[in-house]
Amino acid sequence: MLKKIKQTADFLKSRITVEPEVAIILGSGLGGLGNKISDTVKIKYQDIPNFPVSTVEGHSGQLVFGKLAGKNVVAMQGRFHFYEGYGMKEVTFPVRVMHFLGVKNLIVSNAAGGLNPKFNQGDLMIITDHINFFPEHPLRGKNFDELGTRFPDMSKVYNAEYIKIAERIANNGRISVRKGVYIGSSGPTLETPSEYKMFRIFGADATGMSTVPEVIVAHHQGMKIFGMSVITNESEPENPNEETTHEEVQDVAGSVEPKMTKIIEGLIAEM
Ligand code: HPA
Repeated sequence: MLKKIKQTADFLKSRITVEPEVAIILGSGLGGLGNKISDTVKIKYQDIPNFPVSTVEGHSGQLVFGKLAGKNVVAMQGRFHFYEGYGMKEVTFPVRVMHFLGVKNLIVSNAAGGLNPKFNQGDLMIITDHINFFPEHPLRGKNFDELGTRFPDMSKVYNAEYIKIAERIANNGRISVRKGVYIGSSGPTLETPSEYKMFRIFGADATGMSTVPEVIVAHHQGMKIFGMSVITNESEPENPNEETTHEEVQDVAGSVEPKMTKIIEGLIAEM
């Protein structure tokens, strides 16, 4: 696996002139930030050796290298989801590669269902912590000590300083943001009313089908992490007739995306 990761990193290095220090993973309907990057080199996933290919609607599937807010960045427009059939090693492969490209900071975004009754559709939530509810663990198997330790401490995964900066930027820009715990589970089904209730009892504020695997691997490698969810639907166990569609998730994410982009751009400038 390590050989494949390095091979892919070497391929990408041969295509770019400057190495990125910040990586951004853009979630469902949130790809717009990629268009704000200047001096871009875009490389489609299908043209990258050893990369899985994204299949889901709304995920265009390319790496965008370039400049954003004065920093060298790489954005993933489209990510790999466990529900698509990939194993966790494949889902997290790009984050492994980013480590060998010199990336020190990871920004993750996603569309999520709101569990906290105070949350509304279209809210932004800064992720303060997560619950890993996936059935497979990305670090299971042989540990590569040059990547990270066997038993990573998970007490401080989401960078406290970045959270403060993001809150300040949001306040200054009169953008209201929530903070909360994200629970990641396999999908592709959305939750039953009873499952939403269970996740709320667990202590989660939002639920989705991504982010946790990439964050675990990034943390394993010592990256500093910032995460943000767009609440695309309110998951009310008391109101199970409100159905959620993938189109709705993408539409809401797309309409909130400019606000999220503003916060992320501001944060990158201060990194
Ligand atoms: N559940 C799981 N994933 C999601 C949801 C949800 O309600 N909304 C957007 N992604």
